[in-house]
Amino acid sequence: MPMQPWFTDAKLGIFVHWGIYAVDGVQESWSFYDDIVPHDRYMSQLGRFTGAKYDPHAWADLFARAGARYAVLTSRHHDGVALWDTGFGDLNLGRDYLTGYADALREQGLKVGLYYSHSDWNHPDYATTRKPGRPPEQEDNRYSECSAEDEDLAAWERFIAYRDGQIRELASRYRPDLMWFDGEWDRSEEQWRIEELAALIRSYSPHVVFNARMLSEGDYATPEQGAPIEPPDGPWELCLTINDSWGYQHHDDNHKSLSQLVRYFTETIGGGGNLLLDVGPMEDGTIPAPQVERLEGLGEWIRKHSDAVYGTVRGLPAGHHYGPSTLSADGRTLYLTLFDVPRAEIGVRGLVTPVRRVTVLGTGTELAHRVIGGLHEAVGVLWIDPPAEADLDPHATVLAVELDGELELYRGSGRF
Ligand code: GLC
Repeated sequence: MPMQPWFTDAKLGIFVHWGIYAVDGVQESWSFYDDIVPHDRYMSQLGRFTGAKYDPHAWADLFARAGARYAVLTSRHHDGVALWDTGFGDLNLGRDYLTGYADALREQGLKVGLYYSHSDWNHPDYATTRKPGRPPEQEDNRYSECSAEDEDLAAWERFIAYRDGQIRELASRYRPDLMWFDGEWDRSEEQWRIEELAALIRSYSPHVVFNARMLSEGDYATPEQGAPIEPPDGPWELCLTINDSWGYQHHDDNHKSLSQLVRYFTETIGGGGNLLLDVGPMEDGTIPAPQVERLEGLGEWIRKHSDAVYGTVRGLPAGHHYGPSTLSADGRTLYLTLFDVPRAEIGVRGLVTPVRRVTVLGTGTELAHRVIGGLHEAVGVLWIDPPAEADLDPHATVLAVELDGELELYRGSGRF
């Protein structure tokens, strides 16, 4: 299926990890799986989760102000606790948090994404089968796999029926634009019945987008926590936490600075990807202030530089400019990002297409430029005068380079 254009045009999405783990501020699902928190203590958070200040309109409003075009909310993490009043399984919060979320996003013109973990470390029928080919000496985790002798395929069928029941509810009620799967490593493509799962969702949401953790049905690559140095060829999305945690954790104040986030963002879109930036609301639904501040700051930066963000495609390959760049969809304007205060002229190498004009995005100041050097096919270097201090952005300055035609590059071994 061809990629939905809204996805590649979106550039920024907001990931929301919200679940019972926010009550004690422990790691989502993994804390009991890894025996860091006793299972009964972890599950006791279910009775203490209030959602008392849950305000999906405030979330959607914040996400829109941040410049995001979609969001992805954890409808059910590996702990199996559903954020909606599901008729399947025993674990939910007795309340439907998803209708408000989906409606509020759509009112803001944002696309609706739902995260759903294939794995469910609390369902009684989950740990009844083994992943084929997993080495027998590997120690089983009681929450994810049983020993080969104890396999119970009828129980696995019940698990799949439960899973399909939940997925049918999600797809039919909320008609998600994107389904963000996770936990695929626990079982095989065949055990998850990926093809049937995709068909079930598409029967309600025919244009749904799937991340790569939908295995053979995935539409885009899902690098996590680190921007790929060589951007993938096709569509992709970097998912990234603002501090070091996906969900809310009281003691984690290792937040990335706004400048660092602008850097991640520009590097990601410069490589043709989207940034899916994560927030971890507290158990009452409040998004922590340091995260709100950063989303608002990113939104301000994006508003000032929106021409370099929306309606662009991946920019120059490495080697032409020392920083990320994007290219307007018509290929006629290059947007160069500068992170540092330029001390001298900015040199761009290998631009075959002549340059008409260079301006500072956001202030409109025109900068002088000239080409020096070159021989035959080897083009000279484009030297751009450094912007004055008043034209510099505190996080990243963008120069708009208007070309006299569509971008053509010299790569050192002939033109292409
Ligand atoms: C990992 C973790 C999970 C988190 C996800 C987000 O797969 O298992 O806790 O939700 O990354 O990408």
